[in-house]
Amino acid sequence: MERIRVSIDSKKVSVLKAKDVPIFYVHGSGCDASIWKNQLEEIGGFAIDLPNHGESDEAEVNSVEDYAFFVAKVVEQTAGRGVIAGHSLGGAIAQMVYLRHREVVKALVLIGTGARLRVLPQILEGLAKKSEETVRLVADMAFHKKEFVEAFAEVFSRNSEVLLKDLSVCDKFDILEDFRSGKISFEVPTIAIVGENDLLTPVKYSKFFAEFGNAELAIVENSGHMVMLESPKKLNEILKEFLKRVL
Ligand code: COA
Repeated sequence: MERIRVSIDSKKVSVLKAKDVPIFYVHGSGCDASIWKNQLEEIGGFAIDLPNHGESDEAEVNSVEDYAFFVAKVVEQTAGRGVIAGHSLGGAIAQMVYLRHREVVKALVLIGTGARLRVLPQILEGLAKKSEETVRLVADMAFHKKEFVEAFAEVFSRNSEVLLKDLSVCDKFDILEDFRSGKISFEVPTIAIVGENDLLTPVKYSKFFAEFGNAELAIVENSGHMVMLESPKKLNEILKEFLKRVL
């Protein structure tokens, strides 16, 4: 595995790369590229540290559209085109890359995400007050397999300002009616993948993509929101089968 740095508008975006497979993993709120370790090792691809996360530079980013710009540029400057695999906030970004920068998108993988990502007001209010209890609540809601909660409560606690900013960006993301009215639908191969016990982005949100977005649906048993960590073997199986068909 190597770390590469892509220059975009004088900012450096850090990317973990393993094997030359054109799949681009985009992490969710308060996380970084390292959450894709199991996918990079088995499948390969490019895992992006979004601006203000991991080893990427700080940048003025206030919306899903702003993040999508950076992701599209990373794809353009590395593989040219690829499969965009986004988790949670990263899944909203993947949808926006498709809507705004379609030329770089071969296919989409939408993991634990939705066309609208409202956040519980108590989470936004608690994080604004730097409440440790709220950080723990988010970590607790993120995992069905509770052995991960402690470590992630620490990660989220260290990154609580970034987490709040990311969740505020999620809270504003809403393209649900555009799907429902038929204004938008995915015209590239798309699969929505969700843990059956996901509390942050319930299965219903992924079923919506199957009903209105022309997406395939895969529900991962015995997993919460963090499928890539909770059920890496099953997720990798689904990804490998999908990539075989779309690459
Ligand atoms: N896809 C499909 N349906 C969706 C959706 C999505 N992305 N987002 C919301 N909906 C549905 C809801 O299920 C609800 O359906 P219903 O009327 O049949 O029950 C309806 O649209 C209204 O949803 P919303 O405007 O989000 O308001 P809400 O009353 O459902 O409640 C929250 C808002 C924050 C309580 C709720 O969205 C929630 O529990 N979110 C999960 C927790 C969280 O904070 N997640 C973080 C995501 S990053």
